Amino acid sequence: MDTSLGDAVGAGDAADDAGNEDLGLFDDAVAGDVRDPYPELADARRTHPVQQLDSSLMPHEEGQGVYFIYRHEDIALVLRDAGTFSSAHIIDLIMGPIMGEHIMLGMDDPQHRRYRALVSTAFRQKTLALWEHELVAQVAGELIDGFADRGRAELTREFTFPYPTQVIAGILGLPREDYRQFQRWSTAILSFFTKLDEAIVASQEVKEYMATILAERRRDPREDLISELAVAELDGERLSDEEIFSFLRLLLPAGVETTYRATGNLLFSLLSNPRQLDAVRADRNLIAPAIEEALRIETPLLNITRLATKDTEISGVTIPAGSTVMLMLAAANRDETRYPDPDRFDIGREEPRPHLSFGNGPHACLGTHLARMEMRVALGLLLDRLPNVRLDPDGDDPHIHGQVFRSPTSLPVLFDPR
Ligand code: HEM
Repeated sequence: MDTSLGDAVGAGDAADDAGNEDLGLFDDAVAGDVRDPYPELADARRTHPVQQLDSSLMPHEEGQGVYFIYRHEDIALVLRDAGTFSSAHIIDLIMGPIMGEHIMLGMDDPQHRRYRALVSTAFRQKTLALWEHELVAQVAGELIDGFADRGRAELTREFTFPYPTQVIAGILGLPREDYRQFQRWSTAILSFFTKLDEAIVASQEVKEYMATILAERRRDPREDLISELAVAELDGERLSDEEIFSFLRLLLPAGVETTYRATGNLLFSLLSNPRQLDAVRADRNLIAPAIEEALRIETPLLNITRLATKDTEISGVTIPAGSTVMLMLAAANRDETRYPDPDRFDIGREEPRPHLSFGNGPHACLGTHLARMEMRVALGLLLDRLPNVRLDPDGDDPHIHGQVFRSPTSLPVLFDPR
């Protein structure tokens, strides 16, 4: 096997890496400094589950309404009905200028089905197993090496932020020496809400950089994602270079930012519920339910959007053709008709029911298995390597915040040095 997968990215120097210093700035700007949006979401879900709101501050079709949807059942129906609720406006109104025109998130069928089938081949179970052992555990282990002897750490800066970028860089097979630059581009692209110009420049630079690597992989394929995409074939058809660049750029917001936040939310939820953390420490079979419960109660990406292609109705409210619908995943995940006592973090729920944090229907997250695997590896290794890990009582009031994305402000921890 080509060993470049494992060595591709140097994890050890990550904690003080360029890009990490922007973390605070990036987080406030991107996430919004809201501590607890849940009472308001619960109130909306109960009193007006389909609500037309002032839309002047958000991208939408000129002259058309924006409807917020809060109930689990309604959101799941919208997501499964891609004929009535299109994704195409995601390219036109939101991501196109940064990501390019071939973003699968913003495609409808039949284009989406073809593209998804092609890129899915790169996310097979066999590939995932390879990534877990050759790359993900190695990246997590090297990051932990950076602080394991110290007895204390700040896990958002030193672990959860650099972790998924390094994993994706490794999966792409990028040369180790390019990691710092990749982290900078990643942060710039992810800040597109607030610094559009810089994001567009970074996106162009990523494309030029990837073009060189793609040309090399077309000549000399290796065992990495870029090579897989270069050779993926369906009914004799292959992905064009432009389609591959769009996919690679999408991996930053789709695969890096979400996983960084989800891993932080998992750690925060357990660290602030020490009895449940002890239970997981004692029985690693509880890692999987802990991940699902953390994804439910602290949805990393709070809402996604669709555009009504025809006049339709949701829970008795008329939605005219051309309206944007905002699907409030975070409200759905705490819908009391589906999850008893929904605001309680409980990894031992009697009837755990699937959440909507990964979406649903034809656009359901392509990276669910990878994301869950990254979270499982991270939690398992942190528990193995940091005995008695706990929140630092003298920390700076760490809490989960944000209204578009949510994750912890910081994760100051203490542990018994070995
Ligand atoms: C916990 C971490 C993650 C969360 C919460 C998450 C969430 C989501 C959601 C909600 C969607 C659906 C968007 C929509 O329907 O408009 C989505 C789609 C997607 N995700 Fe994830 N994601 C995560 C991790 C990942 C990872 C690790 C990857 C890949 C490396 C990834 C790649 C994608 C892609 C490519 C799509 C588009 C699928 C399509 O349009 O058919 N995601 N994700």
